[in-house]
Amino acid sequence: MVKHDVKDLKLAALGKQRIDWCEHSMPVVKIIRARFLKEKPLKGLTVAACLHVTSETAALCRTLKAGGATIALCASNPLSTQDDVAASLVKHDGISVFAVKAEDGKRYYKHINACLDFHPAITMDDGADLVNVLHTERARQIPEVLAGTEETTTGVIRLRAMAADGVLGYPVIAINDADTKHLFDNRYGTGQSTIDGIIRSTNRLLAGSNFVVAGYGWCGRGVAMRAHGLGANVIVTEIDPVKAIEAVMDGFRVMTMAEAAKIGDFFCTLTGNLKVITAKHCETMKDGAIVCNSGHFNVEIDLPGLAAIARSHGEVRPFVEEFVLKSGKRVFVLAEGRLINLAAAEGHPSAVMDMSFANQSLTVEHLYAKRPQLEKKVYTVPKEIDHAIAGLKLAGLGVKIDKLTKEQDIYLHSYDMGT
Ligand SMILES: NC(=O)c1ccc[n+]([C@@H]2O[C@H](COP(=O)([O-])OP(=O)(O)OC[C@H]3O[C@@H](n4cnc5c(N)ncnc54)[C@H](O)[C@@H]3O)[C@@H](O)[C@H]2O)c1
Repeated sequence: MVKHDVKDLKLAALGKQRIDWCEHSMPVVKIIRARFLKEKPLKGLTVAACLHVTSETAALCRTLKAGGATIALCASNPLSTQDDVAASLVKHDGISVFAVKAEDGKRYYKHINACLDFHPAITMDDGADLVNVLHTERARQIPEVLAGTEETTTGVIRLRAMAADGVLGYPVIAINDADTKHLFDNRYGTGQSTIDGIIRSTNRLLAGSNFVVAGYGWCGRGVAMRAHGLGANVIVTEIDPVKAIEAVMDGFRVMTMAEAAKIGDFFCTLTGNLKVITAKHCETMKDGAIVCNSGHFNVEIDLPGLAAIARSHGEVRPFVEEFVLKSGKRVFVLAEGRLINLAAAEGHPSAVMDMSFANQSLTVEHLYAKRPQLEKKVYTVPKEIDHAIAGLKLAGLGVKIDKLTKEQDIYLHSYDMGT
């Protein structure tokens, strides 16, 4: 048995069912896997992956393994692991997994270190915690690393800050920046799964409610769109004037969080920023307001601040913590302020992760097989990869599109034809 630390290997059969089910909606990853199996482009490569341990991540790991890679997987969030999937990867696929749902901070970092013990040549991160441990505690290993990939907006921001300070030890490709990633995963994936997490944990009706979305980026747009679709009155808060105008013209009310706090029934933060909802905001909320986060880290809601002004707090149903304020008002916080879609639901639907993880697979192949000369910076996914994935996805959906004629192509590259 490969090295591992998972909850219970007896869950493996259930995990396998779940992985097999999700792969039905991942045609692009499966096409890449079939090629990898034949060509073995990753033979001899060791990958340390710090990702949400979900069925879709399992599909990615199976694909990398089919290409010949050795993979060590740990969680990129203490609450996002699907324990049955982790068990199945170990038992049925021979992949080392170190992840247990609801692990504490100490075990979370122990698991990151267990992955780094494999001495990876590629790091695959979601939020940059693995890269951070490598650079701060295990810097001697940096020369062994060829390159890395980063899955999410917050991780890309951290890595760009490291590169700007001259401390990034190797090149990283920002998977998040691929069009076939953020336009679909962040928008439609987060949109659907965040609402799913809120509904599964609360079973409350969204229709007719005031639903406050903090941050109108790719994720916020998705959540606003889906909450509106369920009949909620969506209110958006922003700090970027352009995004704010966009939200207004998309038909939503835009106001400050101080204003929104007084009228919201549901609040969801998706900013990648900290203290977007403060204790002061919570004090002005309606009795019974529901507050959650779907941004990467659990810093968007000031939970220590809220606990400090609360008379008492405690779990009232799974993933729902009641904070009773001194006034007697109650505020309900979901999933400890961690990503609600992964904590209380199952994360993004497989059909969008198909494209995100196709980007991961082809980018790792590109980095390992082609070994491009890259500096210690953050790069975007090569356009050829992005376009190839879009083409494969369309083919999988059975959708055909037009081709440029020769004449149109010339016209689009010329300037001499006007009215
Ligand atoms: N839940 C998930 O599964 C999932 C999936 C993808 C990304 N993410 C995470 O979600 C977060 C948002 O990602 P994104 O791709 O939408 O980023 P983005 O950069 O497209 O959008 C973030 C938006 O938040 C706004 N913002 C920043 N500070 C704010 C504040 N104080 N108040 C209101 N708005 C503020 C920004 O102006 C921006 O428009 C990141 O942390 C990202 O890593 C989560």
